[in-house]
Formats: sequence, C-alpha cells, structure tokens
Amino acid sequence: MSAENTLQMIAQSRRLGPPAAYRTKSHVPSPEAYHALYRESIEFPERFWNRIADELVWQARGETVIEGDMPDFRFFPGSFINVCENCVDRWAADPHFANKVALFFEGENGERRALTYRQLHGEVQRCANALISLGLQPGDVVSVYMQNLPETFVVLLACLRTGILYNTVFAGFSPEALRERIVSSGAKLVVCANGSYRRGKVLRLKETVDRALEDVTTVRHVVVLRRVPDLETPMTPGRDLDYDHLMAGARRVHEPARLECNAPGLLIFTSGTSGKPKGIVHAGGGFLLGTYAYTKYQLDLRPEDVYWNTADIGWLTSHIFVLVGGLACGVTTILYEGALDHPHPGRLYEIIERYRVNKLFSAPTAYRMLMKHGEDISHRYDLSSLELMASVGEPLNPEAWHWLYRVVGGGRAVINNTWGQTETGGTPLASLPGAIDMKPGSCGVPFFGHAVDVVDAGGQPVPDGVPGFLVIRNVFPTLARDVYGDRDRYVNSYFSQMPGMYFTGDSAVRDADGHFWVLGRVDDVINVSGHRISTMELESSLIQHPAVVEAAVVGQPDEVRGQVPVAFVTLDKGYRPGPDLEDALKAQVVHDIGSFARPERVFFVEAMPKTRSGKIIRRMLREILRDGEVHGDRTGLEDAEILDRLVADITER
Ligand code: PRX
Repeated sequence: MSAENTLQMIAQSRRLGPPAAYRTKSHVPSPEAYHALYRESIEFPERFWNRIADELVWQARGETVIEGDMPDFRFFPGSFINVCENCVDRWAADPHFANKVALFFEGENGERRALTYRQLHGEVQRCANALISLGLQPGDVVSVYMQNLPETFVVLLACLRTGILYNTVFAGFSPEALRERIVSSGAKLVVCANGSYRRGKVLRLKETVDRALEDVTTVRHVVVLRRVPDLETPMTPGRDLDYDHLMAGARRVHEPARLECNAPGLLIFTSGTSGKPKGIVHAGGGFLLGTYAYTKYQLDLRPEDVYWNTADIGWLTSHIFVLVGGLACGVTTILYEGALDHPHPGRLYEIIERYRVNKLFSAPTAYRMLMKHGEDISHRYDLSSLELMASVGEPLNPEAWHWLYRVVGGGRAVINNTWGQTETGGTPLASLPGAIDMKPGSCGVPFFGHAVDVVDAGGQPVPDGVPGFLVIRNVFPTLARDVYGDRDRYVNSYFSQMPGMYFTGDSAVRDADGHFWVLGRVDDVINVSGHRISTMELESSLIQHPAVVEAAVVGQPDEVRGQVPVAFVTLDKGYRPGPDLEDALKAQVVHDIGSFARPERVFFVEAMPKTRSGKIIRRMLREILRDGEVHGDRTGLEDAEILDRLVADITER
C-alpha cells in the first residue's frame, strides 16, 4: 500500500469502540486507565517492569531493574529466573491448574491429542535430562526443524529449562537454508520430525536434515521424532537417535537450572537487508518478562481462555504469544499442524467451534484466505465463542478487517492488529482491547514501557499525520540483545542510523489520536504471507544460476499473500529467455530458500535501471510493474535510454 493511500485511509478511518461486555472485564478497562499507566511506565519504567516481575516466579531477585542503555542494556541484572519454571512447573504444582489442558493438538491428518500442564511437566523434565545426557551444556545451540507438534513444545521448553539455546528453523526451509542456519549457529544437535503432514502430502523433513548436514562437522547427533509412523526414515548409526527411545531412557526428574535474567535464551534467524540472515539473540528472562506482559494485556489473556494462535513454531510469533507468553499466563492453547484450509476450507472454523475458542491470533494472509473462500462457509459453524481476533506480521487492510469483524467476529469480537518484529521480540504497538478504540488498518498505540515515535532522517520527531521512520527511544526486556556471533552487525543494523534510538526499518504515521499506522519497510525487505524475505537473499539465489548475469527482486502487491516476489534478470549471452528457464530460476530459489519464497514471475530484461554508481533502482521496476511507466525523477539514471526497452520487456508479457 502506498503512503498516499494510507494517508487517505487514515483521514477516512472510523473508530469502533470495544463492546461494553468486553470492556468491563478487560485488564485495562478505559482509555484513561491506559493513558495513566502508559505515562507512568515511560516516566518510571522500573515501576512498571517491577510490577510485571512480581507476577512471575524468580529464583533470586535483586533491586536493580534496568542497567545501561541501548545497545548494552540489561533487565534485572544479577537476578535469576527460569522461563520453563514459569511456563510449566508453576502450573503443574498448582492444584487448580495441574490437570488443566495446556495444549490441544490437532494434526492435519485428523489426529487429536491433549496434554495437561502436569503431563507437559513430566515430558519436559525427561527431555531436559535427555538433552543433558547427550552432553549438551548451557549456551550450546540446538537446531529444531519441526512443525507444530506437542513434542516441539517439549523440546523448546526443555532447552529453556536447561539454558541450552534453541534455534527453531521453519520446516518449510530448504536444505541449503537449514544448513546455513546450522552452520551460522554452530549447532551441536538437530532435533527434527521425520515428516510433516502438509496439504495432504508428507514432507520428508529428515531427508532435508540429512542433505543439510552433508559436510557439517559441528553436529554430533540428530534426534528424530517419528511423526509419520510408516515413513521410511534412514538413520545414520552413531549419529541419529530416536526421540521416543531417548525419552524412554531419560531420568524423570529435572530441577530448573538457575539462569541469569539476561542469559541468552533463544536464537532465531531473520532476513535483513543483506543476503545473509541474521541470528537474533533474545535473553531468556527478558523474553519471558516482556512476552508475558504483551500476552496478558494485548490479548487480555486469562487462565479461563481457550486461545488459538495459528502461527508456525518456525516464526517468533509463536514463541512470543504461545510457547512463552501464553503458557506463562496458564492458558489452554491449541496447536495445529498443517494448512489452515486443509482438508477443507472451513478447517479453521471447525477448530474454533470444536474447542469454543474465544481468542484467536492469526496473520493477515490467513484472514484474507478465509475471505477468499467466501462468507457462506463461515455460516456453517458456530463461531459465537470468539471475543478477540488478533493479527501480526503484515498490514491488515481495511477490507479484510471489516470482513473479519462482520463475518467471523459477528460484530461482537474485538480486532487487535499488532505490530512487531523478530528483533522486538514482541509487539510494541497494539490495541489494548478493552481500552483503545479500533481503527481498521491501524496498529494501535504504544505498549506500556515502549517509547515509540516517528522521526525524520535527522532523528527529529515529525508532526502527527506526517510519515517518517518508526523508532523506539528506550530499552525494553524483549529487545534483541545481539546478532549471533556478530556484535558489529547488531550495533550497525539497529542503533547506528539514529543514535540513541532503536531503528525498526519501517516507516509509519502517527495520527491525531495517537494511533500508529505502519506503512512498510524502508529497506529491501519484502513480506510474503508474513514471511520476511530480503530481496538480496532472493537475488543472491538467482545469480547462482549460470544463465543469470544480474537479478533484481521487488515485492508486488497480492490480494491474499500481501506481497509476492517478482524477479527481473538479465541473461548471459548463451541463454535464451523462455518458460523453461523461468521455471528453472524459480526452482533455484526454492532450492536455496524454500517454496514459500518462489518468485511469482520472472521477467527477462535487456538491462537494469541503474544509478551512475551502478545501483539498481528497484523503485523504477516496481513502478513499471504497477503502472507500466516510471514516475518522478529519472535524472539519477545512468542510461535513460533503457527505460523504454524495459517498459516494453515488462509490459509485453
Ligand atoms: O514491516 C513490518 C511488518 O513485518 C516486519 C517484521 O517481520 P517479522 O520479523 O517476520 O515479524 C515477526 C512478528 C513478531 C515489520 O518490520 N509488520 C509486522 N506487523 C505489521 C507489519 N506491517 C504492517 N502492519 C503490521 N501489523
């Protein structure tokens, strides 16, 4: 969406108040309550975070709340807290919670299972002992290549319990992408499922792991969960171990390790502006502190809720709002393995009806998919339990917003469009569902303790209604602590553009009511169905193909997926453009990154629009794609002559 469209949308936006019934039971029940608490949390952040800390279980808690400032800051330095203890042990030890279901699992193949907090506690302790029996120690890295399964939660919680760092890798990544993440993190162990059910097919995850591990020397063992019982799964003797077998032999009791609040807890790779993904490091205790607060207040989460966040465990959303934030609230959650419209388009509604889900969290792309399948399907299910629908990851356009509000939420449920990043480890912008009016398309207001602002290139605040760079002026517990093994990249990516502020890489507008509207990235990162992909990463992949001399990738708006990648390539003399080559180039990207990154189209062009210093001007490619011509300034072009040919190359197809 262009900035002009958004500004028009803001001018036309309507405010919708939360339903009265919802407001009264909300943690923050009025705008006044929000503003008072927000002001206090900015002036006295220690007070706010201390209050949150009071609601958690500590192993030892000192006086200091915040020490230092970005990029070198700590929360509760010298205090000790175990994430897993807060997510599991605390509930398992409480007679009101012990037999409560923590996870309802639904496999895409129709399998159903439930795990109570007590059962989860048992599994996690065993798994912690199993990991230790393999010689792993706090700070070692485990790569987890699994889909949404109860066992995935068990493994991750066991890591959080022991201080072993985990790195989940989305189970749609290719062997190449997985290898890169294993190598960059120096992982000593890989845990995977042998396969995963997806759209009625079986994805052979173990095979991908085997290919990823060719020539990798750091990995000592691969633990394999036989998710698909009859799938032939070759095991390498000495290296590969069976998950069930390992668990059966593990000791039952494990005491949560004593972990300093700022010790690294998890590692997750995300796309930046360069071709190489960044390993974002989050502090364990800090992540717990912040995600608990986001989940509690932004989803108004309560123990009695039935809460379903559809995110895949490969993306941080699931860790923020379910694994850590959700379980720390003692909630019952639902874990779904496969595609949300498989085996039939009403699958999501069916699950809401079956469990009487009252809080739903998904991505705009999933909401738009429901819209595409049509309203009629929704009428076949009882969705009256829904009270709140949240969203993150990409813009939730007003059309989808209104459809969701009317059709799925029946005009009763609150919609909360939140904004966050892998690096922020949570959602610094969101509505407070009982306190803040909804504005379709907006990302709500700053969360407690987060000084979110919009500034110009010089770092000065811009007036309301004027687009600028989205920044955060203070530290908060879930702000990334490092880029794994590359401190300079951490400092340069986030803290050098605007000294004294965290630079988000997004542009935004704040309106006169204090609502924020995120316009999009200011760098070369595109967002495909909520998957963040750098155009550089795609381009680096395309030029691996011998036919390609130069490649440029831009995002093109797409009705369901938000954006799709479109590639432009120039070819080596020996190659001829054509559908076969286009398919081969798409296959190259699938091979290097994964099928979710497959370019929608590949245009063969004679030359790229470039600046005099040789940089490809992607803006022009985007404009030609959208409007068939280039608007605005052309003076920066090295060779203005090429534009007509480019327009012809692109529009002729
Ligand atoms: O551009 C913003 C977009 O997604 C980016 C972050 O992607 P990722 O790290 O994969 O997200 C993890 C979520 C915890 C942001 O820089 N984005 C996220 N939420 C929104 C959004 N864009 C518009 N509206 C949103 N609500």
